[in-house]
Amino acid sequence: MVFFSALKNLFSRRDKRTSNASSLRSKKKSLSFSNGNQQHNSDKSASDSSANSTTNSSSINGHSFQFKDGRRYHGISEVSYVLPNDDDEADRVHQQHWILRYALQSNYRAPVTDMLEKGITVLDSGCGPATWAFEMGEAWPNSTFHGIDASCVFPENIKPANVEFVLGNIAKEIPYPDNTFDYIHQRLLLLGLTDDDWDNALKQLYRVLKPGGYIEVAEPDLQDLENMGPTLRKLQYTMSDMLNSRNMPNKAACEIEDRLIKAGFVNTNLKITPLKLNHTDKTGKLLWEDYKHGYLNLRPVMAQIVPEWQDPEVYERFVTACGIEAEQTKANVNWYACYAQKPAL
Ligand SMILES: C[S@@+](CC[C@H](N)C(=O)[O-])C[C@H]1O[C@@H](n2cnc3c(N)ncnc32)[C@H](O)[C@@H]1O
Repeated sequence: MVFFSALKNLFSRRDKRTSNASSLRSKKKSLSFSNGNQQHNSDKSASDSSANSTTNSSSINGHSFQFKDGRRYHGISEVSYVLPNDDDEADRVHQQHWILRYALQSNYRAPVTDMLEKGITVLDSGCGPATWAFEMGEAWPNSTFHGIDASCVFPENIKPANVEFVLGNIAKEIPYPDNTFDYIHQRLLLLGLTDDDWDNALKQLYRVLKPGGYIEVAEPDLQDLENMGPTLRKLQYTMSDMLNSRNMPNKAACEIEDRLIKAGFVNTNLKITPLKLNHTDKTGKLLWEDYKHGYLNLRPVMAQIVPEWQDPEVYERFVTACGIEAEQTKANVNWYACYAQKPAL
């Protein structure tokens, strides 16, 4: 996927300790992306055939999907995730990874660098199309990386030898024995977990983490941005209403540390980083592009709260106005990243 490698090159840095990516080999890149292209082709015919229908369900290679208005979604009734799982959304999530790494100058916060170098077992919970797992796997060849996701958006066949994937709902059961992982990473699950799901997922993650192992959870505060004007405030608070209507916490980022403590983890360490939204420099512009793309992909669920947003043009105009306002007011998204440990025996 040329787009993916161009982004990787755009954001890559030379220092392995900060970027964790400089040793990426082009051979592996082309292998992983050709697998993505295979998925593109089969997905395309499925979504094209449903482009004019409102909703239908289908099974591709044994995986269940729902198609609504030409977009593909997971078809699992107990999973609450609201974004599509088609190619357009996978491209957005890939790009989002590079933007976050560029903005945060790292792929993780937990003090696990020496462990990764030596060789440990890592879980990426809700791995999506697996950009983080692939990059980490290639940067740390002595370690083994496992990704789990409710949708088969990860590459299933061609991947680095030290990266594996399983399909599963993290809020139900994570299909690994107790005390398997030395380090667990989870990022951007806030549009997928209800209040109960958070508790259940953290219980599962606690179970599969080794005593003394590290967990790291990262989310943006999507309700209260710094320096919000009235237009952006309406968008963000509609997001909160949408999440609440589905029993999902609207301040998940701000609750991470408390939830980790409630689940039994200790030695929590929280860092809140303000990320510029559409102002000041390249990072701000790129983050806004991702933000806008994400919001456009959320239109069906946002329109359930504000009916005039059923019209894609009306909605896009509104989201575009939010970007202009964010640039003027210098709005920032607060990024919460908290790591903690399972108590040692
Ligand atoms: C926005 S993507 C983030 C992907 C990845 N963590 C990253 O940061 O690039 C969220 C992913 O979480 C997955 N997800 C949502 N709810 C889930 C659940 N209950 N169990 C497993 N995966 C879930 C979705 O299928 C989606 O791939």
